[in-house]
Amino acid sequence: MGLVPTMGYLHAGHASLIAAAAADTDLVVVTSFVNPLQFAAGEDLDSYPSDPERDESVVASAGGHVVFRPSRDEMYPRPMITTVSVAELSKVMEGASRPTHFDGVTTVVTKLFSIVGRCRAYFGEKDFQQLAIVRRMTADLSLPADVVGCPTVREHDGLALSSRNVYLGPDERKAAPVLNRALRSGAAAIEAGESDAAVVRAGMRSVIEAEPLARLDYVEVADPETLAPLENCDSRARLFGAVRFGRARLIDNVAVGASW
Ligand code: PAJ
Repeated sequence: MGLVPTMGYLHAGHASLIAAAAADTDLVVVTSFVNPLQFAAGEDLDSYPSDPERDESVVASAGGHVVFRPSRDEMYPRPMITTVSVAELSKVMEGASRPTHFDGVTTVVTKLFSIVGRCRAYFGEKDFQQLAIVRRMTADLSLPADVVGCPTVREHDGLALSSRNVYLGPDERKAAPVLNRALRSGAAAIEAGESDAAVVRAGMRSVIEAEPLARLDYVEVADPETLAPLENCDSRARLFGAVRFGRARLIDNVAVGASW
């Protein structure tokens, strides 16, 4: 069984996970659930975009078989008093900006793994920190899933596909690739021999600060497994960033040596 957990409003990034699952497994289950546990007050839980009919056709044309779209009551019939929490990895970067977010993710993913049973589970590198946390949780708790990471699908100008890109106005959409550009400039600096992560971070920050519509949340150079910030970096480092454009908050990450 292949499992592709999503929050719906599917795009080509989700479709790539479904296609990878369909290539490897006999029965591909796509879950679509906007999980309230992973949204903080004031975030976009109630305005998260949704189009179940279009999602059905994305799933079918990517080779998926079953869509599981539970209601909130079905997933959480009682208030949850049990939480799955992955320490350390959940505290940095996205976890520092959204302190309750990853406990919500790991709790719902554990429930989905329990509901579906033994599976290969596909997650995107677009949410690299989430992928690292789910991998670690699965290993630590011996969960019956093989976690598979899949590359980020991007627009032609480098912007990572995201359900939240619909929040971008036309000028913001034009400005949004600055995030990927900044991360790639950091990767290029490391490729050119820069080993001081503070210099790499400062360079990425200045690219983003030159874009008036962008409000920088963070840029980071971190170890791809522990996610710990690096002082000295080499080709193993991963570059991460989060930026707001109006009401849209976008994240991205790149490896050193990658083509994007
Ligand atoms: P969602 O944002 O819908 O993403 C579902 C899956 O699609 C995640 O594994 C994500 O990394 C992947 N994905 C999103 N954009 C992508 C892109 N441009 N290229 C490749 N993969 C991409 O992530 C979640 O939902 C939730 O946190 C979830 C894991 C479902 C738990 O609620």
